[in-house]
Amino acid sequence: MSLLIKKGRLIDPATNYDAVVDILVDGEMIKKIAPKINRSGHELIDAANKVVVPGLIDMHTHLRQPGREDEETIQSGTRAAAKGGFTTICCMPNTDPPIDDPSLVEFIYREAERRGSVEVLPIATISKDRAGKDLSPMGRLKKAGVVAFSDDGDWVADSHLMRRALEYVKMLNLPLISHCEDRGLSQDGVMNEGYTSTILGLQGMPKEAEEVALFRDLALCKMTESPLHLAHLSTAESVELIRKAKVSGVRVTTEVTPHHFTLTDREVKSFDTNTKVNPPLRGSEDLEALKEGLKDATIDVIATDHAPHLVEEKEKEYNAAPFGIVGLETALGLVIKELVQTGALTLMEAIAKLTINPARILRINRGLVKEGAKANLTIFDLEKKWLVTEEEFFSKSKNSPFLGWELPGKVEWTIVGGKVVYQDD
Ligand code: DOR
Repeated sequence: MSLLIKKGRLIDPATNYDAVVDILVDGEMIKKIAPKINRSGHELIDAANKVVVPGLIDMHTHLRQPGREDEETIQSGTRAAAKGGFTTICCMPNTDPPIDDPSLVEFIYREAERRGSVEVLPIATISKDRAGKDLSPMGRLKKAGVVAFSDDGDWVADSHLMRRALEYVKMLNLPLISHCEDRGLSQDGVMNEGYTSTILGLQGMPKEAEEVALFRDLALCKMTESPLHLAHLSTAESVELIRKAKVSGVRVTTEVTPHHFTLTDREVKSFDTNTKVNPPLRGSEDLEALKEGLKDATIDVIATDHAPHLVEEKEKEYNAAPFGIVGLETALGLVIKELVQTGALTLMEAIAKLTINPARILRINRGLVKEGAKANLTIFDLEKKWLVTEEEFFSKSKNSPFLGWELPGKVEWTIVGGKVVYQDD
């Protein structure tokens, strides 16, 4: 089976390439990239006036399987990923049971193979049972195929355990992903601590809960020289701390979510629980600092933190609702609307943070378009507007603060290993 993608504008940040070309896909691989390839004998995709990029990679997805298949499954989550233009997603291990054993890693690979639309790369826990007490069997988990370790949802508060974990990931050459939050400070908070939380009478989570944790993690990263990745940054001070650490040579990488560079804590005034995320939405000065951090490469990656929750759960009062929103299907649109169309990032810079940068951090051979590489490709219309609606989400959960928004950047085709796994109708 050969597939010819005709006249698309190929943007490949791995080689800083931006030109209109034809791409011939043969089987699973990219066979040829050239200004003009003869169309006869191939199945055709007319990509004229469309943008072709390496398949997007999300290094922070919650798929909820095993344990909460009512919220999401590998099947539904990967369909949502394909619709959002993602060809590779990494699933977080805060499942039930948590992914802390090779048999569970195997289960995820098998289920993704059987029912998944896109590639799923499992992340395993740092600590056994995510309890923060003992290390998970990291060596065996690597052998089983995990691409990173994280206790996401919780910070590893025990500094000795974190030091040991960092020493192991250095040996294993895999990144450790930290959720920076000192629970002693954030306690039972439900939103950012500040003027809005005071007005609303909701318990706040101070920015320092993230910054204190991040400071300790940076110190241990410097000490161990291990590959540390900091998840979902949310404050201006966090960006500044990382900027300084990077300048001084600390081997740290970072990510930000689309909701943190799009929304502020003022949105919580609606009491819409789809504004309840962890870390919480912060102030406008934080949002601006995140954008600056993206621009000057302090922030390497844009990741969704896709966190599906049932309507019934999210419909509780603000204090009782769970943290998290779905993000796979709105990420690209928000990146284009909030970062590219505002001039905060060039399209090349934005796509790098969704492709080659996460691929490098995860040490996976993905995120680039070249002859001989696996044909994972995303084709989208940069200008075409579309409406975010519950009905059109492929995710099992609908908890998005962006329902009713009009976004640019409609994904038209998503291709994984030469196979069309999503096509817009
Ligand atoms: O908002 C969030 N939801 N943040 C997290 O760290 C965890 C996630 C979840 O699993 O629901």
